[in-house]
Amino acid sequence: MTETIDQTTPIPVLRLEDIVKTFPGVRALDGVSLTILPGEVHALMGENGAGKSTLMKVLGGIHQPDEGQIIVAEQPVVMSGPLDAKAKGIVFIHQELSLADELSVAENIYLGELPRKRFGLVDWAELEAKTNAILEKLKVGFNAKTRVGDLSIANQQMVEIARALTVDAKAVIFDEPTASLTDAEKVVLFEVISDLQEQGVGIAYISHRMEEIFKITDRISVLRDGQYQGTVNTADTNEENVTQMMIGRKLDLSRNEAHHELGEVALEVRGLSCGSLFEDVNFEVRRGEVVGFYGLVGAGRTEIAETLFGLRNPTSGSIFLDGAEVAITSPHDAIERGISLVPEDRKGQGLVLGMNCRDNMTLPQVDDLKAGPFVADGAEIAIFDQYRDKLDIRTPGWKQLVGNLSGGNQQKIVIGKWLSMRPNVLIVDEPTRGIDVGSKAEIHNLLRDLAAQGYAVIVISSEMPEVLHVADRIVAMYSGRIMRTFTSEEVTEENLIAAISGLNTEKVA
Ligand SMILES: Nc1ncnc2c1ncn2[C@@H]1O[C@H](COP(=O)(O)OP(=O)(O)OP(=O)(O)O)[C@@H](O)[C@H]1O
Ligand SMILES: [Mg+2]
Repeated sequence: MTETIDQTTPIPVLRLEDIVKTFPGVRALDGVSLTILPGEVHALMGENGAGKSTLMKVLGGIHQPDEGQIIVAEQPVVMSGPLDAKAKGIVFIHQELSLADELSVAENIYLGELPRKRFGLVDWAELEAKTNAILEKLKVGFNAKTRVGDLSIANQQMVEIARALTVDAKAVIFDEPTASLTDAEKVVLFEVISDLQEQGVGIAYISHRMEEIFKITDRISVLRDGQYQGTVNTADTNEENVTQMMIGRKLDLSRNEAHHELGEVALEVRGLSCGSLFEDVNFEVRRGEVVGFYGLVGAGRTEIAETLFGLRNPTSGSIFLDGAEVAITSPHDAIERGISLVPEDRKGQGLVLGMNCRDNMTLPQVDDLKAGPFVADGAEIAIFDQYRDKLDIRTPGWKQLVGNLSGGNQQKIVIGKWLSMRPNVLIVDEPTRGIDVGSKAEIHNLLRDLAAQGYAVIVISSEMPEVLHVADRIVAMYSGRIMRTFTSEEVTEENLIAAISGLNTEKVA
């Protein structure tokens, strides 16, 4: 299928025609076409592993296509690599950050193109001035001289974006740019995108977040299993239709209400504080229960999770597991006692990209699976197979290096890793970030299933539909304090928003 363009359509900034790309065991792209017009924001959507990033890597010359053509300003071109693409006016903000930690922000932004003085010496003053001018536009809280390794993931993302803005771009490709941005940073990003749009730059935008897609894009193209499914005007479609194009079926969004009895209190927290990060936190989680933690970024939710997992030391308060007070001083302690944490920053904390899928998944259990001096291969493969099916992880086999999986499938490996430990208390921080709608529903069902099997589950999420959907009770946090705890019967969008904005001071523990 190719899209038709009528006479009134402006000349596309770029076209991809019938692109085919295969990897061993995977036909990642199977005849995909895409047209980007000047001044449009064009969404590229599809499930995890559908081929979105691969298509953009073909466009950027990181991969050469097996078949098909790239056409820039009506001229067929060969892209020899990212610098070549950049020279042709196409810049990328990739899903995986590609920055040098040891270098400064300015050096990263102008890497390979540092401004020079006579005798080839780097013109540091010029470099700093140019960089700070761009950073000012992005309203970030760091400067040209900051070392990139000292920045948060979100700020590193802003450095990537700054780098894209140094070029006189015809097209800018964003691959899941907001996955780790806060709401305030997103506002800045959307302003940047709208500026680019006004200058006639064509934008390709990859994201799994429907609200964003419907807010900022003009057209949506969909891939499924490497095949082009069509292009629609955003204004003429809705979430349900796009989802159906992506997964080829209607999605069952009803909540998994498998009725189950609540068991004993598995985890109880009393008067827990950690400096100014959170104060006097009280809650309990029973076996069979999913408790959602909802609040704005910075409300202290992740810090509570980190304290329960032994990554932070509380300044006061107590933690009880199955009724007995415990001191958890390290992740090792936490794991021993049956607490697992699926962290927010899964890339940084969860995966070894150069290791295969199976070994990544069973890493924390290697000691237990050992048969004599050797690790029992069969046992490990069985664990991998079980969670591959449960989470629908798309990979040709367990031997595949995790670095070769699509972004969303990498995240599923980390989730599988912690689930396979069969913890008593499972804490998941932003469990569906970067995960497509179909798998998102599967992960929600899985969390509710785990509760039904007797686990105590804590879900931290910044997405209101997510907590409303999965949680039996919702803890609303504001500025390091629990404002209120809601049962799923009494919670509404309004009272939840009021509580996390600090407007509702009624405290129900
Ligand atoms: N270098 C590689 N070697 C082997 N297989 C690869 C490689 N790069 C991608 N693939 C495979 O190609 C398919 C498409 O992956 P791609 O990264 O394009 O997906 P995606 O649509 O971007 O998904 P996500 O939403 O999860 O980021 C996947 O099956 C992936 O495992
Ligand atoms: Mg991708």
